[in-house]
Amino acid sequence: MIPDSVIEEIKSKNEISSVISAYVSLKKAGSNMQGLCPFHNEKTPSFTVFESTQSFHCFGCGAGGDVITFIRKIENLTYVEAIRFLAAKCGINIPEGDGNHKYGVRKSRILEMNKAAARFFHTALLYSDEAKAYLVKRGLSKSTVNHFGLGYAPGRNELIVHMKKLGYTEEELTYARLAGKNEKGIFSFFRNRLMFPIIDTSGSVIGFGGRIIDNSSKSKYLNTPETIAFNKGKNLFAMNYAKDYCKDEIIICEGYMDVIALHAAGFKNAVASLGTALTKGQAELIKRYTVSGKAILSYDSDGAGKEAANKGFRILTENGLDVRILRIKGAKDPDEYIKNYGADAFRELLKSSENKFDFIMNNILSKYDILTDEGKIKAANLICAEIAAFNSSVERELYAERASKRLGISKESIASEIKKQAKKKMTESTSEYKKKLHDKAIGLGDRINPERSANLKAATAEEAILGIMMLYPERMKEVFSGKSDLTEDDFVTSFNKRVFISLKKMYEEGNSDVGVLGEIFTEEEMGRIYEMKLKRNGLESSSDEVFSDNISALKAEKAVNETDIEKIIKAKLSGKNTDK
Ligand code: CTP
Ligand code: MN
Repeated sequence: MIPDSVIEEIKSKNEISSVISAYVSLKKAGSNMQGLCPFHNEKTPSFTVFESTQSFHCFGCGAGGDVITFIRKIENLTYVEAIRFLAAKCGINIPEGDGNHKYGVRKSRILEMNKAAARFFHTALLYSDEAKAYLVKRGLSKSTVNHFGLGYAPGRNELIVHMKKLGYTEEELTYARLAGKNEKGIFSFFRNRLMFPIIDTSGSVIGFGGRIIDNSSKSKYLNTPETIAFNKGKNLFAMNYAKDYCKDEIIICEGYMDVIALHAAGFKNAVASLGTALTKGQAELIKRYTVSGKAILSYDSDGAGKEAANKGFRILTENGLDVRILRIKGAKDPDEYIKNYGADAFRELLKSSENKFDFIMNNILSKYDILTDEGKIKAANLICAEIAAFNSSVERELYAERASKRLGISKESIASEIKKQAKKKMTESTSEYKKKLHDKAIGLGDRINPERSANLKAATAEEAILGIMMLYPERMKEVFSGKSDLTEDDFVTSFNKRVFISLKKMYEEGNSDVGVLGEIFTEEEMGRIYEMKLKRNGLESSSDEVFSDNISALKAEKAVNETDIEKIIKAKLSGKNTDK
């Protein structure tokens, strides 16, 4: 267990808005800060950071809590891991407990090892003529090499020897995937490769990519496998730099070398996926930093690249990004294109990238033979459905005209088909929307407090009571010192009851920071708990009267809710008591 005083110190040294700023671009909004929520998909900021209470809350998805909850959620860590993570950030040393060594090494230890390994690789570059020659061959300047921290993994176990000297064990090195183990013993995972450190937006080296530098038959690229520190689906290569340049537009490529060439040519808004197809997590990461929502897929010109662009287009579009596709002509990939034609030519190419509609239409047309009636009808229907999905009538008209030309069908027919499809979509989406609103109002589908919808009155009173208690320590004292007649038995919904019991425990342990509940509650539950507090904040409605009214309301609800059997048992029990 980490002492509360240490947690307090860690929290005070990790100012919430500066910690969150590494992940979300925040803007001042009144006395608070706002940005796009990193935990759900949104176009207008509803994610708010309250500096006065050192907490955050998203009014869209309900996520919320203190700085520890934020780190847990965004870094996928347990409560204790998140505390250690923040401790490491501000240089506080937490003595090693014995309990949580199940997986050998924790995330922060891996990050330390990766940093040390990156330094080692970078220095090793100086001592390898073969590696230096390769850099020259690829046209990588000294400043580019330094900027990206590129390095060289020597051919044998040099890294392991070095890391052991620094105090890391073989077990730890294997766990960090810097080393592998077989019958013959431990070996360096990367050997004789040009090394690309992968750095996340908070500046940690989370993994590596390594490229062969000779013509050996080994796999051209090798990447660190997933570790608890390296989640490929949630990170992008060079996002640590691009995050500051991609507000208006982001360029997504396939390869490390493409990104490096683009940055060197002045396109600092380029990133690459990590040897896998684009994921939803990566789309969310892009949305977080790309305010305009505009993304350009700049994949290789070969068949595999086109296929990957198709998939990437879908994933990004589904996540609300406005995607364009770049078709590279006369070169294999962006790196080669820039080498052959220069930065200006690439800038022109960017301008000519296909927009969403062209891309969709070309895709549909490539699947149907529009020289046959059947193919033409199918393609026309699909294209019209796509056009109907655009909200702007200007866009719809423009695309209708283009479709009419390509299909050889009159503008009128196309327009009337679009109208039909749009109407159909409209009815579908309004009924869906209405249902969602209704469900939300009655709390249906509430995973955190599933009893809420069936006990709405009681739950509302419970939340008001808990909120007021959290906000005003004197109320907490009043309740737990027995001055009011509220007990855990008055609670109807078990989630809120659990919160009450935990607050009691916290109070008895002399703690007043709700954040410590993170030890027992999930980060989603913490969001709900902070929401209760937040809802009372700034309300006049926390007077004695309001507080006692809510208690009465809850007791009345509880009575209604009690089954007859419970009533009989209670009556009997109280009967016995009076007998005595
Ligand atoms: N990749 C990988 N494993 C491979 C091949 C490729 O992880 N065996 C990933 C790497 O992230 C690489 C990207 O896919 O950067 C693109 O691969 P490719 O187009 O083959 O390489 P280039 O980026 O063009 O690299 P280079 O120019 O060095 O040949
Ligand atoms: Mn290439």
